[in-house]
Amino acid sequence: MNIEEAKEKLQKYGQEHVLKYYSELSDSEKQELLAQVEDTDFAVLANCKNLGHADKRGEFAPLAALQVSEIEKRKDEFTKLGVETIKAGKVAAVLLAGGMGTRLGSDNPKGMYDIGITKPVYIFQRIIENLLDTVKQADGTYIRLFIMTSEKNNDATVNFLKEKNFFGYPEDKITFFKQEMAPASDYDGKVYMESKSRISTSPNGNAGWYSSLLKAGLRDVIVKEGIEWIDIFAVDNVLQRIADPCFVGATVAAKVSCGAKVVRKNAPDEKVGVMCLEDGKPSIVEYYELSQEMMDAKDENGDPAYNYGVILNYMFNEKALYEIAQKELPLHVVEKKIPYIDENANLVKPETPNGCKFEQLVLDMIHMLDTCLPYEVVREHEFAPIKNKTGVDSVESARELCKKNGIEL
Ligand code: UTP
Repeated sequence: MNIEEAKEKLQKYGQEHVLKYYSELSDSEKQELLAQVEDTDFAVLANCKNLGHADKRGEFAPLAALQVSEIEKRKDEFTKLGVETIKAGKVAAVLLAGGMGTRLGSDNPKGMYDIGITKPVYIFQRIIENLLDTVKQADGTYIRLFIMTSEKNNDATVNFLKEKNFFGYPEDKITFFKQEMAPASDYDGKVYMESKSRISTSPNGNAGWYSSLLKAGLRDVIVKEGIEWIDIFAVDNVLQRIADPCFVGATVAAKVSCGAKVVRKNAPDEKVGVMCLEDGKPSIVEYYELSQEMMDAKDENGDPAYNYGVILNYMFNEKALYEIAQKELPLHVVEKKIPYIDENANLVKPETPNGCKFEQLVLDMIHMLDTCLPYEVVREHEFAPIKNKTGVDSVESARELCKKNGIEL
């Protein structure tokens, strides 16, 4: 794209300020900025006006979960099927590590965070150790691990994992790919600049993984290796089981498009998204969308009908995902702290939210599928998310849970 074309595109979206310092830039910086203008989808910025306006939702109904008691009864059957599926090379995992981890407030990728007390125990290390448990259960079958990074944290992530020898996971079973980015703007939809030659961008949300994987050309790997199921999981849950055979087996046996790990809520108003049906299709209702009536609703056993919260660990049937890949996922506007350069070109790192980011969310992906099996896991054994340094869902709470599970820190 040349400067004239860039001016035209920016004018169309009211973003002419992007070129404010153009004449001061070096030739290579000019090229980089023009390339970024060409790649950026400025149309998303119009969504700014939707900030704070919840999307219109359909009609909710309960979706029964496969409960721990039932899973225990059928554990051998599910595990056998899961092990067979893994040994046949049909299962892969995707580590979602493209997020910015702003709440934890570390400059490094979240996975590099050391939660150890007497020795270093990195979040990435916990993840790989958990995955190695699956490998062991599957008689030494290493499943392909895709790691999604972002433009912002890719190099640090790759270098760190290489330096640590991938914590014992074979390098040839690991494939990195970068998540696509979206521009970040002020509340009026004007993109922020993070330097004189760069528009502020951020990863495009936790559902960006599949389109980014396709864009990176990795469907070829999936087809070539005969991968049929993909377990996606968040980087920050240090207790999570990844592609564990029982979950794989239960999902395959249920012949669904997707399995979703869920935990029983600890209070009717717990701040967690709950699996449900929306207009007859699987979906997730956010905690602030639950009406009193839904909180009070009971199933046929007298238990709360909307009782199972998602923990961002899903087993997707890849073919089902490929079929919906052509459809556009909705964009959600989220209010965040966005570093930017001020009128004197000084970098500002705001303490409070100052604008909008645009994200695609996994819940919309689930809703496009026909079927989903909520699969209950025991919270104390499988859910220790690290979002903050202290308090709820923090390094502190995760350490406590690790200790309870006999993990030395
Ligand atoms: P969160 O929604 O907790 O976001 O991500 P975050 O970026 O890690 O943290 P905050 O909100 O800035 O504090 C849940 C999971 O989804 C991944 C994260 O890396 C984490 O594993 N994620 C999130 C992505 O991979 N890409 C994204 O664009 C957003």
